[in-house]
Amino acid sequence: MQFDSESKVMSESSQTHTKNVRPVVVSIQNQKGGVGKSTVTINLACTARALGWRTMIIDTDPQSTCIGWHRRGGDIDVESSEPSDVPDRLEAEYRKRDFIFVDTAGSGAAAHSRINDCSDIVIVPFSTSVDDRQPSLDTHFRARRKTRAYLLPCLVDPRSSGRRINASKTTIQTLLQRLSPEFRAFFLTSIITRRLPLTDQMASGGSCQSGYRNNESRSEFDRLFEELTQKLCEGKNEC
Ligand SMILES: Nc1ncnc2c1ncn2[C@@H]1O[C@H](COP(=O)(O)OP(=O)(O)OP(=O)(O)O)[C@@H](O)[C@H]1O
Ligand SMILES: [Mg+2]
Repeated sequence: MQFDSESKVMSESSQTHTKNVRPVVVSIQNQKGGVGKSTVTINLACTARALGWRTMIIDTDPQSTCIGWHRRGGDIDVESSEPSDVPDRLEAEYRKRDFIFVDTAGSGAAAHSRINDCSDIVIVPFSTSVDDRQPSLDTHFRARRKTRAYLLPCLVDPRSSGRRINASKTTIQTLLQRLSPEFRAFFLTSIITRRLPLTDQMASGGSCQSGYRNNESRSEFDRLFEELTQKLCEGKNEC
């Protein structure tokens, strides 16, 4: 894939990577805590990096989850920033990066509005617990007034065989059936499954792109990244 540096669209091409003038900014938000925001941020960034894109993470969460991962050996540049300073931080990276992933705190901070202003796309990860539903929809509603925003089912129960009930997938299907067709378009078809090998990798600064036990998570994040690039291309002629 290549980017058109001015309009920030992507197109299928050879293996070479074009250096972009403006980075693509992907922010990960949900005012609900513990839904997988930092996990998605880190693994998507590592997926972009594995594809050859110049990638960094801006960590705006005082909990500093991404900073902590980097200190444990995570091989992506991570810088912390106040949410309100993100536009200035982005400007400083002009021409230096292809992708910048912005992790956010689990709060509906007004300053997130400034992040939405300068995001090309917002991902709202949500776990399938009933309590997550309204905060996730509220976060998505605020983000999509400013930019493209999509909901991503995360922490999906991996059990799907035998007599076990795949509770998470049932919850997602029920939720989608209740929504209007227009709203269903805001759900990504990708899902991220809860997998212990991924947690283990991240505990030592790794990601879905490292470790031989991580093939399933790697496939999910590869697919998610591909879906995001398609969303970024929608409506652009050159993709
Ligand atoms: N795909 C996954 N597989 C296994 N564990 C996961 C996955 N996604 C998240 N987790 C675990 O769930 C917990 C919450 O994830 P994470 O820290 O990414 O959520 P968060 O939304 O960033 O939380 P916070 O709001 O506190 O910042 C963590 O312990 C993390 O390791
Ligand atoms: Mg977090």
